Amino acid sequence: MITSRESLRTLGDIIGVTRHLDGATFALESGAALRLTFLLPGIIRVRFMSPDGKDRSDWSYAIEDSRFEGEEVFVEEDQQSIEIIAMSGVRVVALREGCLLSVFDEAGQLVVEDQQPPFFDPLNGFIETTKRRESDELYFGFGEKAKSSLQGSKSHMMWNTDTYAYAPGTDPIYQSIPFFIALREGLSYGIFFDNTYRCLFDMGHTSEEYYSFAALGGELNYYVFTGGRERSPRNILRDYTLLTGRCPLPPLWALGYQQSRWSYCPEARVRELARQFREKYIPVDVLYLDIDYMDEFRVFTWNQTHFPNPKLLIDDLKADGFRLVVIIDPGIKVDEKYFVYRDGRDEGHFCRTSEGEEFQGQVWPGTCAFPDFTNPSAREWFGNLYEQHLDAGVSGFWNDMNEPSVFAPGDTQSDIFDLPEKTFPLSVRHDGDGHAGDHARYHNVYGMQMARTTYEAIRRLRSDQRPFVLTRSGSAGIQRYAAVWTGDNVSTWEHLALSIPMLCNLSVSGVPFVGTDIGGFAGEPSGELFARWLQAAALTPFCRAHSEIGTSDQEPWSYGEEFEGINRATIELRYQFLPYLYSLFHEHEQTGVPVMRPLWFDYPHDRRTYSVDDQFLVGSDLLVAPVISEGAVTRSVYLPSGSQWRDWYTGLLYEGGTEIGANAPIDRLPLFVRAGAALFRQPVVQHTGQMRFAPLAITAISSGSLSTSTFYEDDGEGFDYKAGSFSLSQIQHRTGSLSFNRSAGLYSSRKIEFVEFLGVESAPREVSFNNQLISDIAFNEGTRRLLVPLPENGDSWVLTYTS
Ligand code: GLC
Repeated sequence: MITSRESLRTLGDIIGVTRHLDGATFALESGAALRLTFLLPGIIRVRFMSPDGKDRSDWSYAIEDSRFEGEEVFVEEDQQSIEIIAMSGVRVVALREGCLLSVFDEAGQLVVEDQQPPFFDPLNGFIETTKRRESDELYFGFGEKAKSSLQGSKSHMMWNTDTYAYAPGTDPIYQSIPFFIALREGLSYGIFFDNTYRCLFDMGHTSEEYYSFAALGGELNYYVFTGGRERSPRNILRDYTLLTGRCPLPPLWALGYQQSRWSYCPEARVRELARQFREKYIPVDVLYLDIDYMDEFRVFTWNQTHFPNPKLLIDDLKADGFRLVVIIDPGIKVDEKYFVYRDGRDEGHFCRTSEGEEFQGQVWPGTCAFPDFTNPSAREWFGNLYEQHLDAGVSGFWNDMNEPSVFAPGDTQSDIFDLPEKTFPLSVRHDGDGHAGDHARYHNVYGMQMARTTYEAIRRLRSDQRPFVLTRSGSAGIQRYAAVWTGDNVSTWEHLALSIPMLCNLSVSGVPFVGTDIGGFAGEPSGELFARWLQAAALTPFCRAHSEIGTSDQEPWSYGEEFEGINRATIELRYQFLPYLYSLFHEHEQTGVPVMRPLWFDYPHDRRTYSVDDQFLVGSDLLVAPVISEGAVTRSVYLPSGSQWRDWYTGLLYEGGTEIGANAPIDRLPLFVRAGAALFRQPVVQHTGQMRFAPLAITAISSGSLSTSTFYEDDGEGFDYKAGSFSLSQIQHRTGSLSFNRSAGLYSSRKIEFVEFLGVESAPREVSFNNQLISDIAFNEGTRRLLVPLPENGDSWVLTYTS
């Protein structure tokens, strides 16, 4: 990559050792230094400081909390090596010659080791490290990658890029997260390269025997996650998100279905859209306004002709259970008469060129200036501009074009997208929160700092409101501020298939709130493609249809009556599972596990899961196997080994470790549930505002062994949950018996009206609730479902049946 191998130098041998309570510092021959820190059991930081001794300030946008006490270590030295052993048993061995590092886990097994000494290029700041690999070691993560299987493509660039209608395989695209999980024979480890410059990961591409990661500047500063005793992906993500933060519990409404399109304008169109949803009884929570709501694309303005009274519109929508989200781009139109531009310029909030001039570039509004979101005062200024939108009742914000994307000068709108690297010149200056640097250094964090600006502004201006921010660009830690969608995809079956590995890789990069433009942004889907895409997205964490201006309508009813019915049922399915989905976001906030998961995440010991990228898990209990090929009405499904599974529709039991054929007529999303699971569901509601008054149901999946499930509830908005206003329910279940215990805390929980047992083979002889017989039950042999309406119930009860 962009440096010549001839000019590379090693950092040299270790010539001095300084011991610390939590690690050691090595002096290297080249003048560089290596600080090894054992932050927590299983998290080791490896930080090489440059030979020239320049800028050794320790500064990162990715790390949320670096105040770890550190783990106590012993250091042992001999002629050849230095060994640092932590209390947990995790060890690093450093060879004096070449400063080659090996990391071992608690059980003494090798986790990862250097294949060559680290290199640097004194001419251009390039740095690189190379690790040995076994040819069957696989790597997942890297943020947003438009690749159907990361195993096929083995090199990944980190450089946020606006890539309209990206072809599968395009690299890089909008988001870069220099973190991966390595997996081999059931054991995993993770590495996070905390470097914001353009980075390249060569994961066995040049040679099967090693992989490397390199950057065009900054420090060789990375973290190794050893994954605890289990060496599990779950432990790695827990630790990675301890460092880079987790996604705070979103407002409940943001988990509802969302309808967007570039061209919901004027106001009458928006009102009509809202009316159609309610009239057709298609549940929805959120409508979006794209750039056309503004006055010639000036952010924080409204087009007075098309939206004469935004507050009235939003109030009316709210009365009918809708939330409105509006787009805010970073480009500020250069216009003397425009208050945002004038204030930004006068107060010095815009990015400057290396000559000190205001940097200007072309985006939708024409010539624009761009706030320096790496400057705290620019963040505060821009953040305060959201006040008027909040006053008008806007519920959430969509930050786009924040790679940052700039049209090349002279380009017309039709060919602006053909230049993959269009962005600021690399010499543009940024404040870097007091660590001034150029765009080469801060490019990759620009989008995340914009999302942060938005998130922090809502927290500051509306302390009782959970922010909802959607961003196109991001980098490590973006999960703290925003949900993420995969940008300008295309209405093709290939893109639908791509959406699954894309969202799974984002999820295991620490970002749980993810989704795609349902139906595809560019192009026009057939009714079948839209219906299948909606099914595939029905249980993804973020669920929004969006399409490009000038394409045919892409609403759930745009494809005729038959598809309207199918699409309604798909969205209803999402709403029925919302209590479960919401609880998974709580689980993420507590433990760092993603909501949507590749199969290997929960089943790392089942090697057959490693290559499955047309199915995914939602939490541990749901396995979704969408149809992603045109005309297909069946598909094969792999059920991972270690659990038993039941078909959601028939209740039939399958052993794990088997591949089965699933029926998938056009109105069916193949769905499987883990035997033993018990999950919260609810009847169909038209929007999340109705949930408070809707009863809950428990669906329990029959299994011979005892399982325990935990469910979280709160009122879906605000921060009272942090002060105890929530409830946790524990369900213990095995075939024939279910016990329920709820600790309601300060929160008054929803009533549980039904229990549904799935997988019951014959009509029960007796059903009792707290030892009282119940007769009013419904049993359906065809779907193996037993439905039990519950009598008045409290926080603790037992339900049993005998067959
Ligand atoms: C970008 C976004 C797209 C949006 C359009 C207009 O292409 O990715 O979602 O609709 O800009 O704002």
